[in-house]
Amino acid sequence: MNGDCIFNDDFNYVRENLVDSDMVVFATPMYYFGISAQIKTVIDRFYAINGKIHIPKKTALIMTYADTEEKEAQPIKKHFETLINYLGWTNVGEIVASGVWTQGSVKNTKYPKMAYELGKNL
Ligand SMILES: Cc1cc2nc3c(=O)[nH]c(=O)nc-3n(C[C@H](O)[C@H](O)[C@H](O)COP(=O)(O)O)c2cc1C
Repeated sequence: MNGDCIFNDDFNYVRENLVDSDMVVFATPMYYFGISAQIKTVIDRFYAINGKIHIPKKTALIMTYADTEEKEAQPIKKHFETLINYLGWTNVGEIVASGVWTQGSVKNTKYPKMAYELGKNL
């Protein structure tokens, strides 16, 4: 915790940029009702810089999933909200895109415009 990470990989790039960033966006598909392992791996690496990232930042969640049941999105939303509450970051928006399954299918939905508007209104 709060030191060098024993893994020498792409997180070094994330680490350099994360501390100084004004905003962090978590973008993930839903995999078995949770965030993807790739995003979870990045979050777990926060441990090495835990003391440095409890500083005010904006944050947002962009999540896609194939199903349309709203209750199935709750675990990811709750995880995101609990995490950012712990970090002291400000939630500026959550885009939870349901019914997104096959490759490219998000293109014909309202969600890309919502993501655009979220970014534009920051
Ligand atoms: C390993 C795996 C697990 C998934 N689990 C779920 C799930 O629990 N609920 C759901 O609605 N969609 C699930 N999906 C579908 C993805 O959430 C959906 O395709 C997503 O919008 C895009 O993910 P992709 O870019 O990896 O294809 C899963 C897909 C994969 C590959």
